[in-house]
Amino acid sequence: MTEAVAAASGEFTIGGDLTVRRLGYGTMQLPGPGVWGESRDPDEAVRVLRRAVELGVNFIDTADAYGPFTADLLLKKALHPYADDLVIATKAGFTRQGPGAWSPVGRPAYLRQAVELSLRHLGLERIDLLQLHRIDPEVPVADQVGELAALQSEGKIRHIGLSQVSVDELEEAAKTATIVSVQNLYNLSQRDDEPVLEYAEKNNLAFIPWFPLATGELAKPGGPLDAIAKQHQASPSQLALAWLLKRSPVVLPIPGTSSVAHLEDNVAAAKLELTDEEFAKLTAAV
Ligand SMILES: NC(=O)c1ccc[n+]([C@@H]2O[C@H](COP(=O)([O-])OP(=O)(O)OC[C@H]3O[C@@H](n4cnc5c(N)ncnc54)[C@H](OP(=O)(O)O)[C@@H]3O)[C@@H](O)[C@H]2O)c1
Repeated sequence: MTEAVAAASGEFTIGGDLTVRRLGYGTMQLPGPGVWGESRDPDEAVRVLRRAVELGVNFIDTADAYGPFTADLLLKKALHPYADDLVIATKAGFTRQGPGAWSPVGRPAYLRQAVELSLRHLGLERIDLLQLHRIDPEVPVADQVGELAALQSEGKIRHIGLSQVSVDELEEAAKTATIVSVQNLYNLSQRDDEPVLEYAEKNNLAFIPWFPLATGELAKPGGPLDAIAKQHQASPSQLALAWLLKRSPVVLPIPGTSSVAHLEDNVAAAKLELTDEEFAKLTAAV
């Protein structure tokens, strides 16, 4: 499989000027256990990133917090200098205290440092999409988003997005800056954030569902999609991703994996088009 398979997922234009293929890739599985420290297999991590691009993926989601810095340094090692059409979306505002430990910090000086370090680690002069990883409840939203808007006007950020927010928070942030994307937990088996997805559709924001495979639950043999997948001659993971792609044209799934074999399996979902009936059946089944 060498052709740009991801192209079959169609395109979405983020913020009116950044066109990407809808089926992307997320780097969170590349650092060590608990998204902490070095990769278990750095050579395979580099192969995964290069293979993703070879397969036509041109939207990669990452974050300074993945490692911290491990995923970004692997991205730079594997893909820099970047292809002109590659869009790297990163995040700032989530700090790390150890494996599996995460804590929001949204003080403007910290966010500024995070963006400066991301530019350095990724080898970029401007970040295409900077997502506030979490809103820090101890800092006014206008201060957090305002600092990102200042970095945008300085040319260090092209577009601003949010992560794990409510519709109210989206509306509040939009008073300070133009928000072009939202990244929330969403997959076939976890659909609590339908109202946020509907808001994204209405306002033409990219909706980037994190845990698109429910951290692998939807992808594993014997999981909830296994039997239906066999009927479709597809893998469970492909069904979960095809369902997301059909759910709305604003959805940009970013499945994560540390293996080339799983990556190839996932990207092939771009070619799997569900009928309305199949979509409804899956929606009801899980
Ligand atoms: N904004 C946020 O707060 C936030 C939070 C979480 C994640 N994210 C983003 O969302 C992306 C996706 O989330 P995620 O990676 O945590 O979870 P995910 O994509 O739902 O699932 C990843 C898990 O599924 C396994 N997997 C992947 N493809 C598979 C396949 N074809 N067959 C069987 N197993 C498969 C992976 O293991 P292997 O490595 O063995 O393939 C891994 O354990 C992340 O990479 C990150 O960019 C954002």
